[in-house]
Amino acid sequence: MEITYNQAKKLLGEYGQEHVLKYYDELEDADKKALLEQILQTDFSVVESCKHVGETAEKGKITPLKAMELDEIEAEKEKYRQIGLKTIREGRVAAVLLAGGMGTRLGSDDPKGMYNIGITKDIYIFERIVGNLLEAVKQADTWIHLFVMTSDKNHDATVKFLTEHSFFGYRGDYVHFFKQEMAPASDYKGKIYMESKSQMSTSPNGNGGWYISMKNTGMLDIVKKEGIEWLNVFAVDNVLQRIADPVFVGAVVDKKCVVGSKVVKKNAPDEKVGVMCLEDGRPSIVEYYELTDELMNAKDEKGDPAYQFGVILNYLFQEDALHKMAEKKLPLHVVEKKIPYMDGQGRKIKPEQPNGYKFENLVLDMIHEMDSCLPFEVVRNKEFAPIKNKTGIDSVESARALLRENGVEL
Ligand code: UTP
Repeated sequence: MEITYNQAKKLLGEYGQEHVLKYYDELEDADKKALLEQILQTDFSVVESCKHVGETAEKGKITPLKAMELDEIEAEKEKYRQIGLKTIREGRVAAVLLAGGMGTRLGSDDPKGMYNIGITKDIYIFERIVGNLLEAVKQADTWIHLFVMTSDKNHDATVKFLTEHSFFGYRGDYVHFFKQEMAPASDYKGKIYMESKSQMSTSPNGNGGWYISMKNTGMLDIVKKEGIEWLNVFAVDNVLQRIADPVFVGAVVDKKCVVGSKVVKKNAPDEKVGVMCLEDGRPSIVEYYELTDELMNAKDEKGDPAYQFGVILNYLFQEDALHKMAEKKLPLHVVEKKIPYMDGQGRKIKPEQPNGYKFENLVLDMIHEMDSCLPFEVVRNKEFAPIKNKTGIDSVESARALLRENGVEL
């Protein structure tokens, strides 16, 4: 399908974005075509959501969701491990690495996975991730399909890097790259930024886009063909997490839940992590900023905080359950970010401070679409070392300390 200049102008007019065509007449033919194509592909309605910034979505009735805690897991560990190993050996589990993010807080121009956290030797984030997955491969003695989500912004660099490093020992034919979709990025008034005269600024549409993107890029055909039933979705930046962890897989299968979520005990009642709960009787996650004092201080029957298990972005989804929800629209989150843009004089600006909004779907909203969820506790210091920043909380520094604590030489 194509769009003419007049059609593009009309479409932009409906959303108050006519400025996107400001430089059209100056452009070469190829750039004119590219801009019209980008306009055709863009969902401008997402930008409308910045009119509702600051309004918190109405939540349903929040009640506690019991987690499977460490002592309970320990008591049945062998049983779960055997169930998990069997499920993996039957080829029913795949891993999905969410690596489409921009990693703006870390501030590197390369994909986050290329970041070298080593001190005396090279240790790349991707290397740690692959190493962690290889542990499950070794235990199960079978290869596990690894789907890697990238975006337009980092796809080529990611593929090149992993290929050049021979996938850090992973079997290349078990690695499948796919790109997520992009969304326009705007200033605080909702005007889409221009990255150049022929291109709107865009950013990846959030980590909740992974399943639709797997569908749109043909990855679900592989899932179907290979008989994969469970997808372990995880973030690129937690360098300690276990992936396709047999005990976790076994527990979720045994409890007949359609999703499992690895959780850690919060280190303070007001820690900035989303916590597992039930919302109107369905599994859900309350974000830290939605957690009222009442919820923060609520106790369960043992006298422990009722909402104390934080999510770490490591979920095991039953594919069939996702299939059913694929057509549903997830809520859109408006996120304040630093957005590179072209100024009025045609100069390319890379802002030091946030200057506008990105529009994202989040994987955590998928949980509420699931009928049942098993929050599965893991030891925080052994499985949670996220790298968001260079220093401070959730940083290269804090992750290095945790890696050392776990006997990893840096
Ligand atoms: P974050 O929420 O930390 O976002 O992503 P980010 O873009 O990586 O980093 P900042 O906020 O700009 O500093 C959590 C996980 O979700 C993935 C990231 O790659 C990371 O694994 N993600 C995020 C995507 O795959 N796509 C997205 O659009 C956003």
